[in-house]
Amino acid sequence: MQPIQAPYPATRLRRLRQNAGIRGLVRENHLSAADFIWPVFVRDGEGIVEEIPAMPGVMRRSVDKIVDVAIEARDLGIGAICLFPYTGLEERTEDCAGAWDPENHVNRAIRAIKAAVPELVVMTDVALDTYNINGHDGFVVDGQIINDRTVDALVKMSVEQARAGADIIGPSDMMDGRIGAIRAALEAEDFQNVMILSYAAKYASAFYGPFRDAVGASGALTGDKKTYQMDPANSDEALRLVARDLGEGADMVMVKPGLPYLDICRRVKDTFGAPTFAYQVSGEYSMIKAAAAQGMIDEDRVMMESLMAFKRAGCDGILTYFAPAAAKLLQS
Ligand code: PBG
Repeated sequence: MQPIQAPYPATRLRRLRQNAGIRGLVRENHLSAADFIWPVFVRDGEGIVEEIPAMPGVMRRSVDKIVDVAIEARDLGIGAICLFPYTGLEERTEDCAGAWDPENHVNRAIRAIKAAVPELVVMTDVALDTYNINGHDGFVVDGQIINDRTVDALVKMSVEQARAGADIIGPSDMMDGRIGAIRAALEAEDFQNVMILSYAAKYASAFYGPFRDAVGASGALTGDKKTYQMDPANSDEALRLVARDLGEGADMVMVKPGLPYLDICRRVKDTFGAPTFAYQVSGEYSMIKAAAAQGMIDEDRVMMESLMAFKRAGCDGILTYFAPAAAKLLQS
């Protein structure tokens, strides 16, 4: 694009900023509740709604309390919800069998939501970390993360989620070859319409800190995830990963974390034109909440500005813990 403009004073760029009416008319990007995917944490037990200490305002809920969230999401016009399990240390095992148990909290929550609010789009998380004794996204053998056996487990996990009624499968594990394997299994099991939103460009980030508290992994994780998640120094590699995952049958792709990686969002959107999402992760959320609680920033305005930044960077949608708060503000 080559902007053409007369020299000053024929061109005065402030003309188009002089009042709210004209600013609205020339606004390039718009946010709506339909752009949001709301991450929701599910745990065992009954009648539980507990706040996550490191994420003010974000709750863990037992399965019986999840339908309330689904109704709220539907009523606010939120695009989708994404379920994450919280599993205490005592529920975690080395074989991660809970991950593909049809009766695990997530699968029970999907069925409850689909029974009560069938039109709400439900996304899941596919990775072993929330079931693994050591907090890793894959099986660990002799200190190594084993790729191909992990992919077999992720396939079983995905198929059970699809069977429970999930609309979008979200592999967040960063193993090689999992998108193709999951896609083939979904086709073979007659789940042609189940979508895959691949966490294609997922970085080994310190911004995930509060989430690991949220899912009960903080105490569990041994070592780091640098042998499978991306090096924050890399950008071309993100394009190779996205190309690979689209080539294996992903319907949509994700960049994660969000704000620190907007350059990656823009490159991915410009290069592939595929539906592109960003995850405004737990650390991004908690930083805004903490600064606002200290009176250092205006929470609502910073929230909306941060969400608009994703649209400007080319994202079609945003996974954000702010989804309900932002949706309410957009309605008012
Ligand atoms: C792991 C997973 C993580 C998040 C979503 N899925 C953490 C990790 O990779 O350790 C982070 C989300 C957030 O920080 O909000 N499968």
